[in-house]
Amino acid sequence: MKKQVYVGMSADLVHPGHLNIIKKASELGEVIIGLLTDEAIAGYKRLPHMTFEQRREVVENIKGVSRVVPQYTLDYVPNLEKLRPDFVVHGDDWREGVQKETRQRVIDKLARWGGQLIEVPYTQGISSTQLRTTLKEIGTTPQVRLRTLRRLINAKPIVRVMEVHSGLTGLIVEHVHLNGGRGIREFDAMWGSSLTDSTSKGKPDIEAVDVTSRMGTLNEVLEVTTKPIVYDADTGGKPEHFVFTVKTLERLGISAAIIEDKNGLKKNSLFGTEVVQTQEDIDEFCHKIQMGRNARATDDFMVIARIESLILDKGQEDALTRARAYMDAGVDGIMIHSRRKTPDEVFSFCREYNKMPNRKPLVVVPSSFNTVTEQELMDHGVDMVIYGNQLLRSAYPAMVQTAKLILENQRSAEADNQMMPIKEILELIPGGK
Ligand code: SPV
Ligand code: MG
Repeated sequence: MKKQVYVGMSADLVHPGHLNIIKKASELGEVIIGLLTDEAIAGYKRLPHMTFEQRREVVENIKGVSRVVPQYTLDYVPNLEKLRPDFVVHGDDWREGVQKETRQRVIDKLARWGGQLIEVPYTQGISSTQLRTTLKEIGTTPQVRLRTLRRLINAKPIVRVMEVHSGLTGLIVEHVHLNGGRGIREFDAMWGSSLTDSTSKGKPDIEAVDVTSRMGTLNEVLEVTTKPIVYDADTGGKPEHFVFTVKTLERLGISAAIIEDKNGLKKNSLFGTEVVQTQEDIDEFCHKIQMGRNARATDDFMVIARIESLILDKGQEDALTRARAYMDAGVDGIMIHSRRKTPDEVFSFCREYNKMPNRKPLVVVPSSFNTVTEQELMDHGVDMVIYGNQLLRSAYPAMVQTAKLILENQRSAEADNQMMPIKEILELIPGGK
């Protein structure tokens, strides 16, 4: 029997380095490609540009490949145990860095049946990382960006979303990341918050900043980023107005609109019952959801319903009844909001919600219950966490303090050590020189 050779790869941007590995592998026997799924890749770096099916189609047609199997984890072990190949072939570039441990596990596992790891010298002068940087410079298109949110929801245990209210905050969410032992940690998407967009314009969060102006902010962000955006559509306005908002958002490449089930003059939810806020009638809100969904040009755009029952002390049963009704109306996701200090009421909602047969992705915004960890949210089935206002809340006190220091000292030198150096601000945005 021909020897079995296993090659794991993402194959997003196929280049001569990949072909070289496959060629070497085919000289050893029959080549099985373990194609990393979106889930496997999203665990340690950004989602691939192509979907799993697109990547499979490419790889299946490469000379020397006899079949393609999905590899569901970065770890090769589950597939190796199933296939017991004689060889694993990989580039020699994984001896250091994130993949070091994965490599060792491959060697140890293969040793159980006398299999061998063969390492091919890394092809110089071209790499996926390099190609990815070039692609990033090219940017993205509205369709690609729009669809990415659904892909992220399917691929990641939780989608991590950060508030934006300007081009600059967009750049922060796009680029800030941590390089850890387990790969890159970063924000997956952006939240077009009504609170921070209004506040940064010096206006209250009562839908006084109109949709056209909100779109202006989104446009600033879209100009300088590639990550998907979830738009805080407040109440969505009248259903007839919401239709126009959905069309505009979809055309711009925004992935989702979240509408809250309040009516009358909208106030920020975190005021709770301190202010007069009323909840929309269930049937009326279902009608708005349907009008919004019917206005879409494609199925990719998501209309997500935000339930305000816990904010307004209407109780768990009301929240669950609304979740059922909104899902029956066809909504693409549910956001449950709470202004408690602890996540208890959100978690008890989650427990019942997760039992619903037509359960849709669940979103939370832990602004007040801020000690909750992403892991705890994942454990309760939450699909998306939104950090709703933290960039603005950290910027404002810093600016006020600087303003006070200048007033106190009647010059700016005393504020200097809490500001970024002039050289840094000049060079912060590339292309200024
Ligand atoms: C926002 O960020 O504008 C929100 C979330 O709607 S909250 O402020 O918590 O209501
Ligand atoms: Mg809001």
